[in-house]
Amino acid sequence: MTQNEEIARRRTFAIISHPDAGKTTLTEKLLLFGGAIHVAGAVKSNKIKKTATSDWMEIEKQRGISVATSVMGFDYEGYKINILDTPGHQDFAEDTYRTLTAVDSVIIVVDVAKGVEQQTRRLMEVCRMRNTPVIIFVNKLDREGRDPFEILDELESELKISVRPLSWPINIGAKFKGVYNIYEHSLDLFTPDKQRVSERVEIDNLDDPRIDEAVGETDAAKLREDIELIDGVYPEFSTEEYLEGKSAPVFFGSALNTFGVKELLDCFVKIAPAPKPVTAEERVVRPDEPNFSGFVFKIHANMDPNHRSCIAFVKVCSGKFERNAPYRHIRQGKILKFAAPTAFMAQKKSIVDEAWPGDIVGIPDTGNFKIGDTLTQGEELHFKGLPSFSPEMFKYIENTDPMKTKQLEKGIHQLMDEGVAQLFINQFNGRKIIGTVGQLQFEVIQYRLLHEYGAQCRWEPISLYKACWIESDDPEALAQFKRRKHQFMALDNQGRDVFLADSNYVLQMARNDNPAIRFHTSSEY
Ligand code: G4P
Repeated sequence: MTQNEEIARRRTFAIISHPDAGKTTLTEKLLLFGGAIHVAGAVKSNKIKKTATSDWMEIEKQRGISVATSVMGFDYEGYKINILDTPGHQDFAEDTYRTLTAVDSVIIVVDVAKGVEQQTRRLMEVCRMRNTPVIIFVNKLDREGRDPFEILDELESELKISVRPLSWPINIGAKFKGVYNIYEHSLDLFTPDKQRVSERVEIDNLDDPRIDEAVGETDAAKLREDIELIDGVYPEFSTEEYLEGKSAPVFFGSALNTFGVKELLDCFVKIAPAPKPVTAEERVVRPDEPNFSGFVFKIHANMDPNHRSCIAFVKVCSGKFERNAPYRHIRQGKILKFAAPTAFMAQKKSIVDEAWPGDIVGIPDTGNFKIGDTLTQGEELHFKGLPSFSPEMFKYIENTDPMKTKQLEKGIHQLMDEGVAQLFINQFNGRKIIGTVGQLQFEVIQYRLLHEYGAQCRWEPISLYKACWIESDDPEALAQFKRRKHQFMALDNQGRDVFLADSNYVLQMARNDNPAIRFHTSSEY
């Protein structure tokens, strides 16, 4: 196959949802269709249970499993599909944001009873920032839930994207009878079955009496009415608008019952984008360029505490990645060769000789890589777009074992390079502040520092509202602001200036009083 053919058949995407909407179940069903797994339940352990109590064994187990499930590749009808897993627990949202930079499209799973939930809303914001094409799967139709029209309205208003149903349910909950596939003009009848695909009724069009036979006259009439309404209210589905991230096709089904999943997958492979050009600081890099380039979007460190082993996940952006070829690590200015790059097919890792744009390669590493690093065949490129958002929670980290100061330092820096949390160093008192999305991350850091580095730490409270990256075209204004606010100035892990605002009011005042300064709550500005 030529490079262009390899690119054209690749679909690299992530499934995102609020915990419990059915992401794991849907992933598993897609893998079943791809023949990548043979029984349901194989992916199940792929998440930290969403209980409030943190279970360390579970986290460790998760870290072990998540390397295998970080990327799940499989072939389906000539397409090469790469599903990038995102952590279910909301405290690891930052990890999800970064994974979204490595995908070309996204499937959002929404629970029909719960509608749009908080985490879905936030993840959608990230998709919107990047114009990522989105398909929505409304799940759990076998359970009582909300009216599908109401769900569509909510999707539009809450996710701020126009929607277009491409399938439509016939009743929901106990009376759920099936789904009319608007995209393919077919009717699928629902038979609750966790392993097998449902029954398809051949129909010519919506007026076909076979619909009445299959679902009864009343429901058939309601279906015709609904479809008429949909055609009247929602504009015709446009692949272009979907690809621009302006409109999202919506499918209905039940992942647990493998219902509506094949329709989703069949439509997905047809309309979802193949790998797209990626913007580097220097220029836009097209996937069909001859030279290899890629970037690290995820690092799994210290799988085995006895050997400092990491796996850096590299997304191939252009050219062909080859085993043992010399590649340039741009940040370090070094030439590296990778003898044992791994690809992820199904749930197995295996050494690969080559990979194409859209693929993810796992590179065993001993500390060369940081999140965001670029690899090329020589050209000086820096891929952009790995955002850091202001953390939600902040704590001072203090050493409690002076004999282990070095280990603590090393541990903190490695965990930050891995992207576990964000580090800010207060310029006034030199104290280290760790910022996270949720409480669980503090616990994970403390646990990992002890178990992987033998270092002990304790957390001390600090009351902060946001970390704002600041910049200005007026160096004098910037210097003056930093002098005035020196108690609240910090440097992030990359040495950038950050203003630590302790309340929304303080931030507003700072914005009002310093019009020459731009305050950003994300570092990718
Ligand atoms: P997540 O990864 O988004 O967190 O969700 P997950 O797939 O784990 O699904 C959450 C729960 O919802 C699971 O139940 C799963 O079985 C159930 N579920 C998923 N899809 C459907 C569906 O189409 N219909 C119904 N009725 N339930 C569905 P659980 O009780 O948390 O897990 P388990 O004990 O069943 O494994």
